[in-house]
Amino acid sequence: MDAKHLSVADLLLDWYDRHHRSLPWRSPPGSPPPDPYRVWLSEVMLQQTQVATVRPYFDAWSARWPSFAALAAADDGEVMAAWAGLGYYARARNLLKCARVVAALGHLPDSESELRKLPGIGDYTAAAIAAIAFGRRAVVVDANVERVVSRLFAIAQPLPGARPAIRAATDSITPDARAGDFAQGMMDLGSGVCTARSPKCLLCPLRMACAAHAAGTPDAYPVKAAKKAKPQRHGTLFWAERDGAVLLVRRPDKGMLGGMRALPTGPWADAPPGTAGAPFEGAWRTVGVVRHGFTHFDLACTVMVADAAPEGLDGEWWPVAAIADAGLPTLFARAVPLVEGMRC
Ligand code: ADE
Ligand code: SF4
Repeated sequence: MDAKHLSVADLLLDWYDRHHRSLPWRSPPGSPPPDPYRVWLSEVMLQQTQVATVRPYFDAWSARWPSFAALAAADDGEVMAAWAGLGYYARARNLLKCARVVAALGHLPDSESELRKLPGIGDYTAAAIAAIAFGRRAVVVDANVERVVSRLFAIAQPLPGARPAIRAATDSITPDARAGDFAQGMMDLGSGVCTARSPKCLLCPLRMACAAHAAGTPDAYPVKAAKKAKPQRHGTLFWAERDGAVLLVRRPDKGMLGGMRALPTGPWADAPPGTAGAPFEGAWRTVGVVRHGFTHFDLACTVMVADAAPEGLDGEWWPVAAIADAGLPTLFARAVPLVEGMRC
């Protein structure tokens, strides 16, 4: 009789059974699949954000809005405020849209093609949900999987052009059964063992199958095309105070930081735009600069303060003492200590 060979999937699933991370949206191997709502919520939160950052947000959200129906009935402004700090705010707007579609449908679809039609669900998220919540065979490729697979197969083509090859290679090792555990096992391996720097190959269950390990060059993968420098843009944040309250506005739904509560801003420009776009004409003084990196540009904003704001401005007056509860995106939250530090 021929010897039976273990597949990459066998090795990985056996490792996952023993070493899986315990995370609030997961079911451990062998137990019934997790609630699709929790899988969907976690996957959307994890799209551009690290597990450690997502965890407390996930716990708070799933307690406050425990189902599609509960989230669908929520107030838009409260949802946007609860997302503050997670970034990429289009995700929160789409999350709410998606919850409303799913609540009207009565259930979350269980196939990749139907999932992909929903707001905020792209190829990756559709595959992850189909596999993790519904046990469907799906090829799940996130940044961790990309790294592990490009090493396993020593894929020499640089990213992003290598994506089709990485996807095909991942497809070739994805099992028919337990595709959700396989996907999450690959993520765990990428996050704890096959790390970006100094991968721990001696602890890796895939060592014997790994081309990059055999060549002694795991650090060389994934190969990346040289990055273009991001453009630097400038803006001004206006801090207008009156009777211990600061003027906040809601940003238009379309566009950057859309739907979020914010300090009034002027235009973004190639040079500091000064007081252009100020909510009123006054004695604006500069108290400092805050910076934030966005996907397509880096932004540096001058923070300007004026005392004695007039009445009748558009927006809401938010008590400065409770500014932490306003749900300000990180860019604006960074202005608060600056302003507080310059108080005389
Ligand atoms: N990143 C994206 N989805 C994940 C998951 N289900 N577990 C761990 N990390 C993830
Ligand atoms: Fe990554 Fe090393 Fe494992 Fe290969 S052997 S998959 S490089 S940790």
